[in-house]
Amino acid sequence: MAPLRVGFIGTGPLTDHPSATGYGMANQHATAYKAMPEGEIEMVACCDLYRDRAVAFAGRNGIPEAGIYTCYHEMLAKESLDIVSVATWPDVHAEIVISTARHKNRPMGIYCEKPMANTWGECKRMVTACEQNGVKLGFDHQRRYGKPFRLAKKMIDDGLIGKLVRVEAGAGDLFEYGSHNFNLSGYLAGCTKAKWVIGQIDYSQWKIVFGTHNENTAMAYWEYENGVQGFAGTGRCAEIVGSHNRAIGTEGIIEMGPRAPEAKGYHLRYRVFGKGGWENVDTDGESVHGPGFIERAIADFVASTKAGTASEVDAHSALDGTEIIFAIWHSSRTHGIVKMPLIPEDNALVDMMQRGAVQPR
Ligand SMILES: NC(=O)c1ccc[n+]([C@@H]2O[C@H](COP(=O)([O-])OP(=O)(O)OC[C@H]3O[C@@H](n4cnc5c(N)ncnc54)[C@H](O)[C@@H]3O)[C@@H](O)[C@H]2O)c1
Repeated sequence: MAPLRVGFIGTGPLTDHPSATGYGMANQHATAYKAMPEGEIEMVACCDLYRDRAVAFAGRNGIPEAGIYTCYHEMLAKESLDIVSVATWPDVHAEIVISTARHKNRPMGIYCEKPMANTWGECKRMVTACEQNGVKLGFDHQRRYGKPFRLAKKMIDDGLIGKLVRVEAGAGDLFEYGSHNFNLSGYLAGCTKAKWVIGQIDYSQWKIVFGTHNENTAMAYWEYENGVQGFAGTGRCAEIVGSHNRAIGTEGIIEMGPRAPEAKGYHLRYRVFGKGGWENVDTDGESVHGPGFIERAIADFVASTKAGTASEVDAHSALDGTEIIFAIWHSSRTHGIVKMPLIPEDNALVDMMQRGAVQPR
């Protein structure tokens, strides 16, 4: 089979100081494609609204001048792409993914950055557009490929902590960074769909991350269809979890990214009730952030796109985790439990702002 032809939408800048105003995630996608065995893929085209960014990206990645664009519609029309990597901010993910999936020159697969999109309705429409047009859609929830999480999942599946009761996550926010955590929680729980969700948020200080509003603090509780429960704390409530992620079973606890000083720089530890203290686990130098996770995620996505099989970053697990996020904001809006499926298609946080129910300064 000829190498798959890869194109990029949203090359971004290359920055030494990645931040929420320009991380240049396309560069990390490119690094992952480059790490694939020779002959698997070929990076042939790229597009950014800022031509200089696309030119610089092309230069770094061996993309010919003819493959540089400032309009992705033109890029799709002129190039026969097999895979399109989308690394723009979330406010334009839906428009780009839907237009790409419906294009007469549509690719086999679209690998899009997380979070999915800024409203629940857009998230669903992206997935539907891809399904209706036979395009595989994946999201960059790369962390599940990391050793701290892979090893924790194996411990859970092996019964080390008995029957899994609850998965927990602590992070800065529910949506932007939190998107990873809801994906990880579903992975660890062995079930991605929630039955119900309850949550409360505080949004008193303006917080825009990659162009999107995020609450300052949240506490949320939910139950998956398999009976495992979930808890998430963000902002000052992230401290409650005491680690990046935690799995609690009838017979023990596993912490991924533990924050306790006794973890001594280890990124995974567990404790079995009645059998002494915490045991630190070596993760071969991998923290909860990497390295190597995006390389594994993209390799899995490309291989499964080629083979026509499922991959772990397929849109459905992203959709289920994202539904919980929007449901938490909706729960805060309605002051009650939200039964799934989530019906309102808007972004309840933005709606609360627009109605003055939250007034971030
Ligand atoms: N997976 C991760 O761990 C991780 C880490 C950081 C950021 N992210 C996500 O990556 C995404 C991208 O963020 P970033 O900061 O890397 O982006 P960036 O600002 O570095 O680059 C985005 C680029 O998209 C371009 N763009 C916007 N609309 C476009 C359009 N219609 N056509 C072509 N180009 C367009 C912009 O000009 C910009 O150069 C965000 O959704 C962010 O949440 C993911």
